[in-house]
Amino acid sequence: MLKVLLAFTLATGTAAVLRDGRLHGNIAPLLTVPKVTPPATPVTSRNGTTLPSYDTVYMFDQLIDHNNPSLGTFKQRFWHTYEYYEPGGPIIFFTPGEVAADGYQGYLTNLTINGLIAQQQNGSTIVLEHRFFGLSYPKDDLTVESLSVLNIQQAIDDVEYFAKSVKLPMPGGDQVTPDTSPWIMIGGSYSGALTSWTMVTKPGLFWAGYASSATVECIEWFWQYFEPIRQFMPQNCSADVQAVIKHIDDTFTSGNATMIDEIKNLFGLGNVTHLDDVAGALRYNLFDWQALQPSSGPGLFDTFCDKLEVHNGVSAPEYGWGVDIALNAWGSYWTDTYYEILCGDDNAEDCLGTYNSSDPYWTNTAKGNDYRAWTWIVCNEIGLVQEGAPEGTPSIVTRLLKPSYDERQCTYWFPEIYPDGPRPPKTNATNSKTQGWDVAIDRLFFANGKRDPWRDATVSSDFHMRQSTSSQPIAVSDGFHCSDLLTNNNVDSSVDAVQKQGLAAMKTWLAQWTPSNSTS
Ligand SMILES: *[C@@H]1O[C@H](CO)[C@@H](O)[C@H](O)[C@H]1NC(C)=O
Ligand SMILES: *[C@@H]1O[C@H](CO)[C@@H](O)[C@H](O)[C@H]1NC(C)=O
Ligand SMILES: *[C@@H]1O[C@H](CO)[C@@H](O)[C@H](O)[C@H]1NC(C)=O
Ligand SMILES: *[C@@H]1O[C@H](CO)[C@@H](O)[C@H](O)[C@H]1NC(C)=O
Ligand SMILES: *[C@@H]1O[C@H](CO)[C@@H](O)[C@H](O)[C@H]1NC(C)=O
Ligand SMILES: *[C@@H]1O[C@H](CO)[C@@H](O)[C@H](O)[C@H]1NC(C)=O
Ligand SMILES: *[C@@H]1O[C@H](CO)[C@@H](O)[C@H](O)[C@H]1NC(C)=O
Ligand SMILES: *[C@@H]1O[C@H](CO)[C@@H](O)[C@H](O)[C@H]1NC(C)=O
Repeated sequence: MLKVLLAFTLATGTAAVLRDGRLHGNIAPLLTVPKVTPPATPVTSRNGTTLPSYDTVYMFDQLIDHNNPSLGTFKQRFWHTYEYYEPGGPIIFFTPGEVAADGYQGYLTNLTINGLIAQQQNGSTIVLEHRFFGLSYPKDDLTVESLSVLNIQQAIDDVEYFAKSVKLPMPGGDQVTPDTSPWIMIGGSYSGALTSWTMVTKPGLFWAGYASSATVECIEWFWQYFEPIRQFMPQNCSADVQAVIKHIDDTFTSGNATMIDEIKNLFGLGNVTHLDDVAGALRYNLFDWQALQPSSGPGLFDTFCDKLEVHNGVSAPEYGWGVDIALNAWGSYWTDTYYEILCGDDNAEDCLGTYNSSDPYWTNTAKGNDYRAWTWIVCNEIGLVQEGAPEGTPSIVTRLLKPSYDERQCTYWFPEIYPDGPRPPKTNATNSKTQGWDVAIDRLFFANGKRDPWRDATVSSDFHMRQSTSSQPIAVSDGFHCSDLLTNNNVDSSVDAVQKQGLAAMKTWLAQWTPSNSTS
C-alpha cells in the first residue's frame, strides 16, 4: 500500500524512483538530496598512496541521548576520504539527511561541490548517516518511546559531538577537531536546513557552510511547494491543470453523485472512498517535477504535460485546450499508464486511501522503516506538508487538501502522542530556535534554484525576501532542487556560476581562518 502524505522529503526523484528504491508505497517526494555513486577507480592521495575505497564504512560511537550521556552510545556510520587532503586543510562534513546514506558516497568526491571544495582547498570529506536512518539506530525500533531521542536538536548535537570527538581514519586524523582545523558543513534540502540550524545554534563549530535548497523555515501549510511548478511548467499545461482541478473541486463539493462518480471512474479510482484521497492523488503528477535536474533532461513530468497538451502532434496554445479535453487526456494517462507506475497492481483504495487507521502500515515500528522516522520529525517539528492553495490564489492542486489532511494521518502513525486528536507541528518553536528565514550568520553560503519546488521555504522565498550579503551570500540558479550540489548540472551555465561563486567564497573565507578565530 502506498500512502500519500507528509511528503517533505528531499530531492530524490519521481514517484517511480521512490517506489523502486524505498519503502513499499511511499512515493511522495522527500526533502532529500540526490544520490551520487562514486567512481569505482582506486582512490589515491596527492602523493600517490593508495587509499581505502570510497565505500569503506567507518563507525562512530555517538551518544544515544545528548541530554543523558549516561545512556551510552550507538554506532553511527560514516564514510571518509583524504584523497585531496594536505595538513592544515579543511574538514568537509555532509549528511544526506533523512535517508539511509548508502548511495551517497559520491559526496566524498569531486562529482559534487563537496569534492570540488576539497580539491580546491586541500580538504578531506566526510558523509555521516543521520540518526534513525539506514543502519544508524540509537534504539532497536521505532516505537514512540524510542523516537523520543529523534528530533532536530539531537541531530544538531550529533554533528557537534562528532566534530569534536571523531578520530578520522587518516594520518593526523586525531588532531583535526574544529579548534585546530577549519570545518565546513554542507547540506541540501533538510540537511541544508540542518546546516543553517547548526551554524546558528552552535556558533564557532563550523568555520563556513554551504546550504543548498535549504528549507530553513518550517511552515504548517506549505501550499507554496507548488508555486514554482505552476510558474515554470509549460503555461498551457499549467492553465489546463488549474482548470481541471477547479472543475474537480467544484464537482466534488457539489454533492452530485452521478457527476462525482463519472470523474472518479475517468481516473480508474471508482473504488477510492474519500474524495480528498481521489483529488489528492492527482498531486503525484506534479510531485514528478521534483525529480528534474538540468543534467537529466525531460522526465515523467514532461510526459504528463505532453499527454495533456500535445494531440496528434499539435501543441495547445498558451491558454491550453480547456477543461473537457484536458480532463479526458489526464484520465486516459492515468488508466493507460500512470496508475500502474504509482500503484502496480494494488487495489486503488489500498494504494491511495488514507483513512483506514487500523491498517498495519501506520504502526510498523520495525527498524529500517525510515519513512516512519521522517514522518515523526515532520509531524512534530517541521510540517511543510504540500496542500492546495488558499481560495483566491491560483492552484494546481485540489483545495480539498489542507494541513488537517496530513495532521489526521499523524494521529494514525503515533496515536500515543495525540490523546486529544490532531494538532499542528510546533513549527513556530522550531523557527524561533533556528531563526528560520531570518538566519544571520557569517560565512554561510546559500545556493538555491529558481525552479526548486521547495524554494519558498528557503531564503530565496518569494514570500520572505532576503538580501544577499558578502558574509551570507544567496546565489540563485535556474536549477531545480539541490542542482548546484552535483557537478554534472553545470551543463546549465547558471548552475555553473553558482558553483564557482561558492568555491570563491570558500577560498576567501578559508584564507581568513586561524585556529584562534575558532571557539571550540
Ligand atoms: C603520502 O601520503 C600519505 C597519506 O597522506 C602519508 O601517510 C604518507 O606519509 C605520505 N608519504 C610521503 C612520502 O609524503
Ligand atoms: C576529480 O578527481 C579525480 C581523482 O579522483 C581526477 O582524476 C579528476 O581530474 C578530477 N576532476 C576534476 C574536474 O578536477
Ligand atoms: C594545497 O597544497 C598544495 C601542496 O602542498 C599547496 O601548494 C597549496 O598552496 C595548497 N592550497 C591551499 C588552498 O592551501
Ligand atoms: C447531476 O448532474 C447531472 C449532469 O450534469 C445532471 O443531469 C443531474 O440532474 C444532476 N443531479 C442533481 C441531483 O443535481
Ligand atoms: C504546451 O505544452 C507542450 C507540452 O508540454 C510544450 O512543449 C509547449 O511548449 C507548450 N506551449 C505553450 C505555448 O505553453
Ligand atoms: C475495485 O474493487 C473491485 C472489488 O474489490 C475489484 O474487483 C476491482 O478490481 C477494483 N478496481 C480497481 C480499479 O481497483
Ligand atoms: C482496514 O485495514 C484492516 C487491516 O488491514 C482490514 O482488515 C480492513 O478490512 C480494512 N478496512 C477497510 C474499510 O478497508
Ligand atoms: C505561529 O506564528 C504565526 C506567525 O507569527 C502565527 O500567525 C501563528 O498563529 C503561530 N502558530 C501557533 C500555533 O502558535
